[in-house]
Amino acid sequence: MATIFSGVQPSGMITLGNYLGAIKHFVEYQDEHQCYYCIVNQHAITVPQDPVKLRENSRNLAALYLAVGLDPEKVVLFIQSEVPEHAQLAWIMQTLAYVGELERMTQFKDKSQGRGESIPAGLLTYPPLMAADILLYKTDYVPVGEDQKQHIEITRDLAQRFNNRYHEVFVLPEIRTPKVGARIMSLQEPTKKMSKSDPNQNGFISLLDDPKEIVKKVKRAQTDSDNRIAFDKENKPGISNLMSIYSLCSGQSVEEIQAAYEGKGYGQFKSDLAELVVSLIEPIQARYRELVGSDYLDQVLDAGALKARETASRTLREVEAAMGLSRR
Ligand code: AMP
Ligand code: TRP
Repeated sequence: MATIFSGVQPSGMITLGNYLGAIKHFVEYQDEHQCYYCIVNQHAITVPQDPVKLRENSRNLAALYLAVGLDPEKVVLFIQSEVPEHAQLAWIMQTLAYVGELERMTQFKDKSQGRGESIPAGLLTYPPLMAADILLYKTDYVPVGEDQKQHIEITRDLAQRFNNRYHEVFVLPEIRTPKVGARIMSLQEPTKKMSKSDPNQNGFISLLDDPKEIVKKVKRAQTDSDNRIAFDKENKPGISNLMSIYSLCSGQSVEEIQAAYEGKGYGQFKSDLAELVVSLIEPIQARYRELVGSDYLDQVLDAGALKARETASRTLREVEAAMGLSRR
């Protein structure tokens, strides 16, 4: 049985992009693989967070993970800071990583821009922590959106460097990006990825948006003026993005959708899409509301942290033994 690991930051609401690009696929893996899904709150603090919000967002994300269909009997769901081995291995990974390679990470360049002297060091050392997350569980596959590709590559490099320098402890993980939807774009600027940090609220759909709000956002989505439903990312990025979303929500292929909407205009398409998205999200929201304040959620997270620690501490012991950090 292969091992799967993935993480999502509790840094605000979960968007339709997060869901279609990553979380939806987490559910598909749970029956046949050993899955670890982590709420990476230590990654979230690489930029300042309000403590009350961070606590709330972590809980909300856990409830959402369950609401989309993750079964805690099958997967290990836990909060990163509750498994101290992550920070411990992250330190070791930092000693293996080179400043130069960390400075070349696109995400570091983006997030450090405009901060002058005040770039938190944690923004730079974010990838070694992510490598630790993945390597602690001897992960085979990491399901993530395309934006994480570079982080998975550096994880492999660090694992390889460790294995060469000491001995074969780590498994080299592989990225798993979805064929459609690895990059859901903003509804307002379809050449940028859909992101929860977009100051324009119309650019993204949150899984917790009110259904009426969702309908409005879909109807306001940017499209070109030729009123033809055809998939062409280059020339028709807006409608192509909406078609990808349609495809992921309905299970139909983009070709089937194109054929079904031959001769129909954007108005009809958008109103059908809005209905599809709402019917996908509404049951998730109903389950979410039941879970978020429940004791059951705490029990799941407590059990998840315990289970994760079993594996994580075993790997950390091997690492420390290989490096001479243990007395025996
Ligand atoms: P984050 O919110 O940055 O922690 O991302 C959580 C997961 O969602 C990661 O696997 C990302 O790659 C994925 N993701 C985030 N935004 C998008 C998007 N617009 N399209 C597809 N996947 C995304
Ligand atoms: N960096 C990821 C993101 O922003 C979140 C993350 C942290 C992660 N650790 C991980 C994803 C380990 C996969 C595996 O989306």
